[in-house]
Amino acid sequence: MDNRSDKTCDTVPATCSDSDHPDTAGGLSDPVKTLEVPSMSDKMFSRFSDFVQKELGIKMPEAKKIMLQARLQKRLRKTGITTFEDYYNYVFSPRGREAELASMIDAVTTNKTDFFREPQHFDYLFYTVLPELASRNMKAVPHSQELSRSQGHGVSSSPSNTASEPRSVPLKIWSAGCASGEEAYTLAMVMSEFASRYPGFSFSILATDISTSALKKGTAGIYSHERIEPIPMPLRKKYLLRSKDQSKELVRMIPELRASVRFQRLNLMDKLFPIRNTMDIIFFRNVLIYFDRPTQESVLNRICQHLDPEGYMFLGHSETLSGLDVPLIPIITAVYRKSF
Ligand SMILES: C[S@@+](CC[C@H](N)C(=O)[O-])C[C@H]1O[C@@H](n2cnc3c(N)ncnc32)[C@H](O)[C@@H]1O
Repeated sequence: MDNRSDKTCDTVPATCSDSDHPDTAGGLSDPVKTLEVPSMSDKMFSRFSDFVQKELGIKMPEAKKIMLQARLQKRLRKTGITTFEDYYNYVFSPRGREAELASMIDAVTTNKTDFFREPQHFDYLFYTVLPELASRNMKAVPHSQELSRSQGHGVSSSPSNTASEPRSVPLKIWSAGCASGEEAYTLAMVMSEFASRYPGFSFSILATDISTSALKKGTAGIYSHERIEPIPMPLRKKYLLRSKDQSKELVRMIPELRASVRFQRLNLMDKLFPIRNTMDIIFFRNVLIYFDRPTQESVLNRICQHLDPEGYMFLGHSETLSGLDVPLIPIITAVYRKSF
């Protein structure tokens, strides 16, 4: 990959297939190989599922046994261990905790994501949330300015602001449960588009997840042509670099975009998060669905401690807060503001 000549490099239309898609990464891809390792006893299922529920917060009812078995069978094959009992003893031994636990966690998490997933959120962010927060953070920018709505996804062609020397307070965004980084880079592109119209506007993005392999992909910022299909072409041209080796059909986020996102491992089940900043915006989408209601409530309350009093929280469209005691007020579908 060429990460130096970004301004002269362009992307090509998406045409390739993606053998590493998160949808299929943890699934039953090879039934013949699946038969080579033993099935999981109820006793072993209960031991593994207890760990997954208590340590990761992820619901693991009996109905998920086949899925958990299939995902862990891959780890047995990879480590050459022949029984689930031996694998369990290994993974929680001092050596296994160092050498295998992270891979086991990678295997049991579902890292499905996309660029511009649930795209209405990014339009709302660009046209409503950012102008409001920018005018609050940048005193020299007039409140009445209008953004051009020439295209969706925050892609517009006419700069609307000529204010000079605005005071810049960087906007802080957190993509919590970021998987392989598509959500964080979507945010980075939208924020960069906004920044190009608002002199002095700056931002930083924190992207966290429990899965080390997903974080590694995010940090690399390399994606297949198939994965980038949801990205509008003007943004692809501006923010992606194609591989020098055309046979690879890969693209990489430009260095400036990668520099704006910091990937960090964080378990949302931890009682304290190692986060010093208060966030203006938190994207916490499609993670809650994996937790039971009490876990949803406690995780959300902890996350809200890191949200600015006037900050915004974006959840997944299928996630609901009804019945949860959390300091959030609904604004539009799956968008909330902090309340006291
Ligand atoms: C389905 S993905 C959502 C990705 C992205 N937010 C989106 O909406 O496209 C859910 C992510 O939550 C992460 N996750 C699950 N439990 C977690 C935990 N206890 N702490 C941190 N991340 C967790 C998984 O590793 C996975 O990458």
